[in-house]
Amino acid sequence: MKVPFLDLSRAHRGLRDEILASFAATYDAGRFCLGADVTAFEQDFAQAVGAPEAIGVGNGTAALHLVARALDIGPGDDVVVPAFTFIASAWTASFVGARPVFCDVDSRTYNATAETIAAALTSKTKAIVVVHLFGQAADMDPILTLAQQHGIPVIEDCAQAHLTTYHGRPVGTMGVAGTFSFYPTKNLGGVGEGGAVVSTDARLMDRVRLLRVHGSNVRYQHDAVGYNYRMEGLQAGALRVKLSHLDRWTALRRSHAERYREGITLSDTILPQPAPWGDSVYHQFTLLHPRRDALRQHLSDHGVGTDLIYPRALHQQPCFQDVGPADGTLPVAEELARTCLSVPIFPELSEAELDHVIATINHFPG
Ligand SMILES: Cc1ncc(COP(=O)(O)O)c(C=O)c1O
Repeated sequence: MKVPFLDLSRAHRGLRDEILASFAATYDAGRFCLGADVTAFEQDFAQAVGAPEAIGVGNGTAALHLVARALDIGPGDDVVVPAFTFIASAWTASFVGARPVFCDVDSRTYNATAETIAAALTSKTKAIVVVHLFGQAADMDPILTLAQQHGIPVIEDCAQAHLTTYHGRPVGTMGVAGTFSFYPTKNLGGVGEGGAVVSTDARLMDRVRLLRVHGSNVRYQHDAVGYNYRMEGLQAGALRVKLSHLDRWTALRRSHAERYREGITLSDTILPQPAPWGDSVYHQFTLLHPRRDALRQHLSDHGVGTDLIYPRALHQQPCFQDVGPADGTLPVAEELARTCLSVPIFPELSEAELDHVIATINHFPG
């Protein structure tokens, strides 16, 4: 049996007519860049993720960039970023000329903690980026307390955490702002690029809205140096269709994760566990194994697709060699990069496929 790591076509087949109908409506009305479809999606999405408002943008990286600009982060500033995440989390600092200061992460949630963040604070820290990695909320209360003590805003990178909550509070609404990605592989993915900013701070949102479209609220008057980070109408239409399925897809991801936890018995394997403050939405199901590469090969030999997310910590990336810290100084992030293995978790997996993944893992010759 072959089990793909991810097969978007399974969901897309069933949604084809509905999404193409939304395209036709947008096409016929010519609402291509922002417009009524984007506004409607912004309202639906804000409601779904428990935020007072959402701003649709071109992608999740643009969302982070806009928040960095809205907070006036710039050259000479430091921004704390977890070392184990996707590179775009660090672009929050780099795009505005600030320095990312990488912090270590927790070995079970894979997320930054108040302790690891505290160790990375400097006299120049202007913001903290918290990533809710793989769909699991970081332990926010101690982080928010630390941030308040130092008067530093927390940006929540929720690119992988649509519908994730922390003690019942939606991610993206606890810090100064939250950013989402709708890259096609995300739990809520478009049929192209997309992203959003959410915040409870109406003034910050006004600034993000201004910067999203060339720093301009009034035609041909530019109050700030801005960007073309508009969301496209066609994407908004597709995302609205998909948003109506997100609760069900999230429940399926959680049930697959539970099946993995019940079934996988391979020794020396560490599986993601629900945190006391709320279960993950399982953007990834990423296990840890000391012989990760051999296990990956074994799964591939038996038709199971896997991925390494992420095989290098950010301070180990070539582009950050001049930033540091040195290799060997963030041991948990480096260990995760060496031992992590993401297995299939997309909603449409069949029970037989899940059982094949489980049996193949359990038969790995130890
Ligand atoms: C944690 C994280 N942050 C930011 C991004 C950037 O999102 P996008 O690819 O939409 O620019 C991604 C997704 O790729 C991500 O996984």
